[in-house]
Amino acid sequence: MSVSQQVFLRDAMRRLNLTRDVFAGRIGVKRRALDTWLLPEGSQEFRAMPEVVMRFVTEIVENEALLRKYSQTAQSGPLRDRIAADGKHQLLSVDQFSRESVEELFRIADQMQPIARRQKVSRVLEGAVLGNLFFEASTRTRVSFGAAFCRLGGSVCDTTGFTFSSMAKGESIYDTSRVMSGYVDAMVIRHPDQGSVAEFARATNIPVVNGGDGPGEHPSQALLDLYTILTEFSRLGKLLDGAHIALVGDLKYGRTVHSLLKLLSLYRGLKFTLVSPRGLEMPDYIIEKASTRGHVIEQTHSLEEGLRGADVIYATRVQKERFSPEELENFSPDFQVNKAIVDACCGPDVIVMHPLPRDSREGAHDLSVDLNHDPRLAIFRQTDNGIPVRMAIFAVLMGVESLVQHSLRDVTWSPPSHIGPDDSIFHGVD
Ligand code: NCD
Repeated sequence: MSVSQQVFLRDAMRRLNLTRDVFAGRIGVKRRALDTWLLPEGSQEFRAMPEVVMRFVTEIVENEALLRKYSQTAQSGPLRDRIAADGKHQLLSVDQFSRESVEELFRIADQMQPIARRQKVSRVLEGAVLGNLFFEASTRTRVSFGAAFCRLGGSVCDTTGFTFSSMAKGESIYDTSRVMSGYVDAMVIRHPDQGSVAEFARATNIPVVNGGDGPGEHPSQALLDLYTILTEFSRLGKLLDGAHIALVGDLKYGRTVHSLLKLLSLYRGLKFTLVSPRGLEMPDYIIEKASTRGHVIEQTHSLEEGLRGADVIYATRVQKERFSPEELENFSPDFQVNKAIVDACCGPDVIVMHPLPRDSREGAHDLSVDLNHDPRLAIFRQTDNGIPVRMAIFAVLMGVESLVQHSLRDVTWSPPSHIGPDDSIFHGVD
C-alpha cells in the first residue's frame, strides 16, 4: 500500500460517504477494531488491518458500480450518521447536508409542530442536560435552543458572556469543552471567532451545535430559514427550484446569509441577487461554492435593482460589532427594506424575512416596522419555526427521532390560539 493505512481508510470512507460506524458495519468489523486501524502508525493502540480487509476495501473503492451501490445503501442509515461531522454527531456547518438529508430533518421538524404549538408534550429526552454556552449576545438562539431541549423533556444549564466564565481566567477552548462534556449531554456554542465552535467540537464526543461562530456560520438559523421558505412556498403554491431569492444587507459579516446561501444552493436553478452596501459584499469563497451548482448569482449595490421580482427578500442587520474602525467610518447606512420599496419592486406573494434582531430604533436603517401588519412579513413565523427545527436537530443528534411520534401526550393547560396580537391565519396556528 503506497499510502498509510490511516490515509487509505479515511479516503475510502470519504469517497464512499460513510461514517466510521456505518463503514465498520459495511465491511463487517467492530467499530473498535476500525478505530485502532485508523490510529497513526506510531501510536500504542495502533493495529494493522488484515490483508483481506484491505483488498475488500480497495475493490469497493475502485469499482465504480460497486461504489455507487454501497454509497446508496448508506443513505438508509440513521440521519445522524449521514450528517455526521468527522464521524461525530455534531452540527457545525450546513455543508454537512444534502437536499435529501435536509428534507428528512424537516419531516422530523413537522412531527415536532404539535409540541411547538403547545398541543402535545413529549419526554423523549428526559434526564438529558443541555449546556448552552453563549460567549456573544443572543436572545432567540439561546432561548429557542433551550426551549426546544426542554420541550423534549430535557433540562438546560446556561452560561453567557466571557465575563462570568472561566475563559476570562484564560481557560482554553479545549479545557472548557472537555470539562463541560462531563456535566452535560449536548452543547450549543456561540463564540465570536470563526472556526471556534469546530475547536470546541474536536475536544468532545458529545453532540455540539454551532450557534454562530463569529462571521462564519449559523447552520441552525439557515435550517429554520429554509424550513420557513418551504412552508411559506407550500402555502403559496410555489416551488423553491427556480425561485428568486434576494439576500440583503451585511453579506460580509452576516453569518446567517453565509449558511443560507450554501444551503439554498442544494436546490435547482435558483436566482440569487446579493444586495449589499459597498464594502459589505458576500465573501468570494461562499459565492464560489454556490456558483459551482449552476445558479444565477448577481451582485448589486442598488436595493431597487436587487429586489425587483424577488420571491423572497431576506434582510439582515449591519453587524457593526465586527467592523474595523475604517469600515465604520466609510459605511453609508442608506439601505432600508420598507413597505414602499417592497410594494414598488415585488408582487403580493413575496415573503419578507430577517434572522432578527432588527434595529427598530428611530433613524435605524434596518428592516422597517411599517411592514408589521403586512402578511408578507414572515419574521415571526420564522422565529416560531426555530422551535420545531431545533427540536428536530436535537432529536436527530441524540438519536431519539423515531421515539417522538409514540411519546406524544396532550397538554394539560390551554394556550391562546394566536400567540401574538397581530398573528393572522398566515401564522400557521390553526
Ligand atoms: C443573528 C446572529 O446572531 O447571527 N441572529 C440570530 O441568531 N437570529 C443575526 C444578527 O445578529 O444580526
